[in-house]
Amino acid sequence: MKPVKLGLIGFGTVGSAIEDLINRNGDLLASRIGAGLEIVKVAVRDTTKKRETKLDTALFTDDPFDVVNDPAVQIVVEAMGGESLALELTLQAAKNGKHIVTANKHLLAMRGAEVFAAVGENGVELGFEAAVAGAIPIVRTLRSSFSANRIISLYGIVNGTANYILSKMADEGAPYETALSEAQRLGYAEADPTFDVEGIDSAHKAAILASLAFGTPVDFSDVYVEGVTRITAEDIGMAKEFGYVIKLLAIAKYEREMVEIRVHPAMVACSNPIAKVSGAFNAIEIDCSEGGVNMLVGPGAGGGPTASAMLGDIADIATKILAGSAGKTPSSMSQDPIAVRPMVEIKSRHYLRFTVPDSPGVLAQLAGLLGDNGISIASMMQRGRKADMPVSVVLMTHTALTANLDKALDEIGRLGICSAPTVVIRVEGEEE
Ligand code: NAP
Ligand code: HSE
Repeated sequence: MKPVKLGLIGFGTVGSAIEDLINRNGDLLASRIGAGLEIVKVAVRDTTKKRETKLDTALFTDDPFDVVNDPAVQIVVEAMGGESLALELTLQAAKNGKHIVTANKHLLAMRGAEVFAAVGENGVELGFEAAVAGAIPIVRTLRSSFSANRIISLYGIVNGTANYILSKMADEGAPYETALSEAQRLGYAEADPTFDVEGIDSAHKAAILASLAFGTPVDFSDVYVEGVTRITAEDIGMAKEFGYVIKLLAIAKYEREMVEIRVHPAMVACSNPIAKVSGAFNAIEIDCSEGGVNMLVGPGAGGGPTASAMLGDIADIATKILAGSAGKTPSSMSQDPIAVRPMVEIKSRHYLRFTVPDSPGVLAQLAGLLGDNGISIASMMQRGRKADMPVSVVLMTHTALTANLDKALDEIGRLGICSAPTVVIRVEGEEE
């Protein structure tokens, strides 16, 4: 059998890991596919950069259109990232009849409708397992394993960088900046790490997951996004004292004919299996109508795990190419829109940390305004008493409506007693 020919766009952390994995497990892949895989073209930004590769340097180009327009290329493997150029290349690849495997969640979350339409119109395959949760086979699970189920909710950690940072801060007391630099050095972070730490990457993945799980197109602006940049060592320590771990969660739920899609830091009870998922690992709990609650855990970022997911898609498509069935059942996303529940309608318990003067009556003012807005307090903790210095007052609330909490915090802000922004962290998985 002639090898199946791949054209790579991008040869950074992920692209180079694909070559490495083909070099190491090429025989295994060939035995499973029925033919080998051959990289015949590679696009990079800078062809003069020194690279660790066994590929002939003549295969490298700085024009990614050379890849999508190369008649020899059967599968375009996009490991470049970004939105506009990636969309142009993907549409051109589909138009040229190339099958596509991508790790680009940014593209799929923002321009998925155009990509899926082009794939359908041109009868080509699209593999995007690597776009969500690294090596974890969540896309395949939702698309085929749970076909007979209604998905009720998805809940978990889908960004390795943010989880790595939070774990390093909680387990080793590492400063935020140090943990982020390590995550970047290890190849977990996006080219612009703001996407990781501000929750945008998790939100891209949550949008893709919600769309797969509930069969609805998702307008990315409907996804609620909060990142981890405001989480301090103090909050991590307080969480521990209350029996929680702080995680950046992505949550997608179908309830009362609406979906909620949100990404934010959350306190998770230490006894919850998600609390034990650390480093760059991801975990997704899937609650479905027939199969019950399932949890998938695995490496969520880095070249190796991502290459593993991409080569799974590549092997799948290559097998179909050899069988003559590739593109006969193109990836479709036929979807009816479902309304997205606004965040103000979400209820949860909350951790609130106020920075206020340590003087009589302050606690009563805070509790009073929370109470006036229907928010009841479950427990309270005060730390760091120093003469004439503001203190941290932590209140854990019972279940409260976000709209009520927003109003109470606005009224508390207007009292003029808080000397730093109030930290608000939702407590997930508990209603009281
Ligand atoms: P990366 O290390 O920054 O690599 C990006 C590659 O794209 C580099 O080889 C770069 O060329 C090339 N490139 C950038 N702009 C280009 C252009 N205009 N024309 C041609 N080539 C261009 O990024 P990465 O971490 O491998 O991520 C790649 C994609 O995979 C992104 O979509 C990312 O979100 C996704 N992803 C990454 C991970 C991960 O853990 N890293 C996991 C899942 C998904 P040079 O080498 O010359 O700079
Ligand atoms: N930057 C991403 C993360 C890569 O840290 O999860 C995997 O999608």
